[in-house]
Amino acid sequence: GPLRVLVLGASLRAGSTNARLASLVGRMLSAADASVDVARMREFSMPMYDGDVEETEGLPDGALALRDRLEWCDAFVLSSPEYNASVPGVVKNAIDWVSRVRPQPFKTKHALLVSASPSMVGGNRGLWALRVPLEHLGTRVYPDMFSLAAAHQGFTEDGQLTDSGLQQRLEETVTAFLRLVEADAHYVCLQRR
Ligand code: FNR
Repeated sequence: GPLRVLVLGASLRAGSTNARLASLVGRMLSAADASVDVARMREFSMPMYDGDVEETEGLPDGALALRDRLEWCDAFVLSSPEYNASVPGVVKNAIDWVSRVRPQPFKTKHALLVSASPSMVGGNRGLWALRVPLEHLGTRVYPDMFSLAAAHQGFTEDGQLTDSGLQQRLEETVTAFLRLVEADAHYVCLQRR
């Protein structure tokens, strides 16, 4: 069947530019025949990680719901803002909770990291920081990343990128990522024969 890709917008706020970028990536993936699940981190609300809560109550529902969505997919795309040149607490907290599940759901999943920010660096430093916990967990983080600078004026009314050159680069990144996931799925399939 088609490859299954979860596309996650990581900012909680309603007007999130990262949510708009996630929607656009989702449409590009659908156009490339992937089966796409576009979600937002605010669907998975959970308390701050606390080992006592984990011991007495287990994982919160939000973390388990995110685990389910991750288990469904072959690959995921994370569109995350950069807070103080690093990973937003909401994202790190979700990674920490979900990493407690066994089997650990981030392991061997392919991931593409993208970001949007009103600044001129587009949140790219946050993505480098995000690679650390994900690679630690065994996620195959795609080497190429995409960061949209001046994101507050980066989208047309129908949700495309204002800059057509950037739109093309995003599309190339997304399709190249999908081709890698496809090739790997094929390889794993051959190994299992
Ligand atoms: C920010 N923002 C920000 N932007 C950036 O490019 N580099 C940074 O280091 C930071 N740091 C930062 C810290 C905190 C606490 C906040 C709240 C914000 C701005 C951020 O990129 C901006 O709010 C984006 O619009 C967030 O993404 P969404 O919500 O539009 O998806």
